[in-house]
Amino acid sequence: MPLTEQRDELIKKWLKEAAEEIKESLKHELEVETKSRKNDLVTQMDRKIEENFVSKIKEHFPEDLIVSEEGFGDHVKESDFEKNTVWFLDPIDGTLNFVLQNENYAVMLAVYEKGIGKQAYIYDVTHNRLYWAIKGNGVYCNDQPLPKMKDLPLEEGLFASNSMFLSDQQVSFNTEITKRAMGVRTIGSAGLESIELVKGNTLAYVSYGLKPWDIAPGLILVRENGGVVTNFDGSPVNILDTSPTIMATPTAQREITNLL
Ligand code: IPD
Ligand code: CA
Ligand code: CA
Repeated sequence: MPLTEQRDELIKKWLKEAAEEIKESLKHELEVETKSRKNDLVTQMDRKIEENFVSKIKEHFPEDLIVSEEGFGDHVKESDFEKNTVWFLDPIDGTLNFVLQNENYAVMLAVYEKGIGKQAYIYDVTHNRLYWAIKGNGVYCNDQPLPKMKDLPLEEGLFASNSMFLSDQQVSFNTEITKRAMGVRTIGSAGLESIELVKGNTLAYVSYGLKPWDIAPGLILVRENGGVVTNFDGSPVNILDTSPTIMATPTAQREITNLL
């Protein structure tokens, strides 16, 4: 079996197991700790899911490297990224939602070979929807292929962001973008925001400080479905860095870059 398919089978199996474990954990009280700020949370499940994935990836693919949020992965330098197969893992994206709402969170994985995004998986656990892509084969929700995104301008749809960007009073571009769109939406999970864009439910998602594991899967899915992912100035995103990121239709991305 080709390596991509071998990985695909394993990843889907592991994601289902992780989803069951996470749902089970919601029947009991979560152990919640704060990290850098009062709204930057981590639970025992973020750590447990990441630890499980890391040990399974290392068992099956011992040569590969892992970039992950909760500290069980590797320290991956630019030169490692260009030469190796690197996995990006966010065990729970939207931890604040996970804790406060018990929904609207995702488990996310992406595989890059020598710097090129090959496979992406965003599992919306609450709705049992796995969004995934293997480069060149389109984006799927479970077994259903998703239609390509339409290249619409901001005024024909919804704009998505987060509270930090929308409430920034030092700038005016946030209100300019907001006024131009038909409305604003904010979910609280970068991964699920990229899915909304891929499905055409929004036309753009803008956020200041996305980490490698927040954008690595969405970047593959958005590009695969006809969208673009850039920095605020329109330059390519370096997924090993924390990046101010635009994910959008090509037309909306140009509009936003001009306003920023
Ligand atoms: C966060 C979410 C949130 C985004 C933050 C991320 P986490 O991820 O994706 O929507 O605004 O920048 O850190 O911490 O819940 O995995
Ligand atoms: Ca996380
Ligand atoms: Ca995240």
